[in-house]
Amino acid sequence: MNGKLYGIGLGPGDPELMTLKAARLIGAATCVAYPMLETGASFARAIAQEHLRDGVQEIAIAIPMTVARKPAQDAYDMGADEIRKVLKTGRDVVVLCEGDPFFYGSFMYLFSRLSEDFKVEIVPGVNSVSACASVVERPLVARSEVLTIVPATLPADDLSVKIANAEAIALMKVGRHLSKVKAILKAQNLMDFAHYVERATLPNQKVMPLADAPDVAPYFSMILVSKGNDPWL
Ligand SMILES: C[S@@+](CC[C@H](N)C(=O)[O-])C[C@H]1O[C@@H](n2cnc3c(N)ncnc32)[C@H](O)[C@@H]1O
Repeated sequence: MNGKLYGIGLGPGDPELMTLKAARLIGAATCVAYPMLETGASFARAIAQEHLRDGVQEIAIAIPMTVARKPAQDAYDMGADEIRKVLKTGRDVVVLCEGDPFFYGSFMYLFSRLSEDFKVEIVPGVNSVSACASVVERPLVARSEVLTIVPATLPADDLSVKIANAEAIALMKVGRHLSKVKAILKAQNLMDFAHYVERATLPNQKVMPLADAPDVAPYFSMILVSKGNDPWL
C-alpha cells in the first residue's frame, strides 16, 4: 500500500505556535520534505528542527525566486517526483509548511501534483495574518468589518483600488514592494492607520507604525491597515 502525504502547517515562526498534531507527526516522520531557498536556507525546516528524528530522510526542494513561473514549476515537478518515489514504497511523507499550508502556501504545488494518486492529510497552522495582528496588539477585524488580504506584488493601480475599497487590510509579501505600498497609503491618508511587522513571533521580530518602518523590508514582512470603520472600543 502507498504511503500518505501530509501537509503540515508550522505556524509563523515561533516553534511553540505549532499545533500538538503537527509536532507529533513531524516527530514520527521517517521522511520530510520542505521548500528551500537556493542559498540552502529553509524557514520551514528551522521551525520544525527540534522535532526531527535522527536519520530522517530529507527532501529539500530548492525553489528559484524568479518572477517567471517556469523555474519554480520545474522545481516542484522534481520535488513531487522524489516524494512520489518514497510514497510508492509505502512510507509516509511529511511536508513542512510555514504558517498554514493552504494560505498562500507552497504546499499547494505539491498537493496539485500528488493528491490524485495518494491519500493526503492537511494539518492547518497559525497563519501569518493572525500572528501579525497579535504582535501589533490590535484586532484584525471588528464587528461587521470586512478583511481584505492583498499581495503587495500587485501593480500599483490595482493595489490602490483594492486598498481604497477595503476596510481592514493585510498586505502580504511586502519585501521589495514597500515603497510602492507606502506611496499608495500616503496618497490615501492612511499612514496613521498602518502598522509594519517583520518576522512576527521570531526573536528578531520588528513591529512599528508604518511611518517608522525601515526603507528596506525582508520577504517575511506584512503591513496591517485598519481604517477603524466599525470601532471595537
Ligand atoms: C508565501 S506567503 C506564506 C504565508 C503562510 N503560508 C501563512 O500561512 O501565513 C509569505 C508571506 O507571508 C507573510 N509572512 C509569513 N510569515 C511571516 C512572519 N513571521 N512575519 C511577517 N510576515 C510573515 C509575509 O508577508 C510573506 O511575504
